[in-house]
Amino acid sequence: MLARTLTVRVSRRMLMTTDVTAFELVHPWGRALPGYRAGAHIDVYLPGGFMRQYSLAQAPVPAPAGPGAPDPGCARYVIGVKREPSGRGGSASLHERVQEGDLLAISTPRNTFPLHPEARHHLLLAGGIGLTPLLAMAQQLAREGGAFTLCVFARSREHLAFAEELVALGPNVRRHFDEPADPVAGSPAQRLDIAELLRRAEPGTHLYLCGPAGFMRAVLDAAAQCHWPEAQVHLEYFAPPAADAVGLDEPFTLVIAGRGIELPVAADQSAVDALHDIGIDVPTSCSQGVCGTCVVPLAADETAGGMGATGATSAMSEPDHRDHCLTATERRAKVALCCSRARAGGRLVVALA
Ligand code: FES
Repeated sequence: MLARTLTVRVSRRMLMTTDVTAFELVHPWGRALPGYRAGAHIDVYLPGGFMRQYSLAQAPVPAPAGPGAPDPGCARYVIGVKREPSGRGGSASLHERVQEGDLLAISTPRNTFPLHPEARHHLLLAGGIGLTPLLAMAQQLAREGGAFTLCVFARSREHLAFAEELVALGPNVRRHFDEPADPVAGSPAQRLDIAELLRRAEPGTHLYLCGPAGFMRAVLDAAAQCHWPEAQVHLEYFAPPAADAVGLDEPFTLVIAGRGIELPVAADQSAVDALHDIGIDVPTSCSQGVCGTCVVPLAADETAGGMGATGATSAMSEPDHRDHCLTATERRAKVALCCSRARAGGRLVVALA
């Protein structure tokens, strides 16, 4: 873990729904916090020894600038945390043990889920608490004049977090509930035909999605049906889909291009662990292939393959990609070292700065 950590004070706890609480974090002595762009997340170190990643759920609010300050930083961070009764304890720790006034250690913000400025329109699809990064994106786009539609999917109105913030965004927000809008009258649920929505999107639209695994699968299936350009789909998972849980198996060789380093990675090790053992630290956050923090460029393997133009032999290694954050196009050039490996005990060649 290379990210800088800092201490923040919980200035407010805000009950959003029966199971979602927002936490506002500020500098303990009122100074500015490091700036970020919408889509960023932070690691939060919790009572009980947990560390969890949470997206920043608010577009950056600049801190009051000092005279001549080039970058005023941010006044606060806001995270929204859903309590998961069957989770691994991180959300329960926050909900039960973290109160206003408490100090927490966090990482500085990282952004592996940014807005793409080349998009002509931004279509943001949020399932449940997956709303948090997309809410910040919508606020940032609204502030900067970007074209967007935010579709929020929730079980019911009572389960809709950040409802006031959504109202403030105006007509660019569409709310969709699983339950009928009026259960007594039995009016139909405000469901959305996602495939139809995607088919009607104007050319140049980029799609961003964040939510539970089933929601993500449904949207990705709809995007595939519509032949949505893969380079215009951007997603962030909470956790690896259960059926695709990361596993470690075959040993392989990790090669660091241009540095003469060939490193055996044991069956029960990750590439990140093997690098750490020889004193090379790669930044990590989720260690589950979800957040993209450990992604590095792939490089040519100069000891294999056919003759290159320079006379050197070269070929790209063939990674066994196990992440849930890279697109197929990105996987041709990058690899997530916390989880991915070389195929069948082969060689994985990467470029490290
Ligand atoms: S640390 Fe999150 S994808 Fe590797």
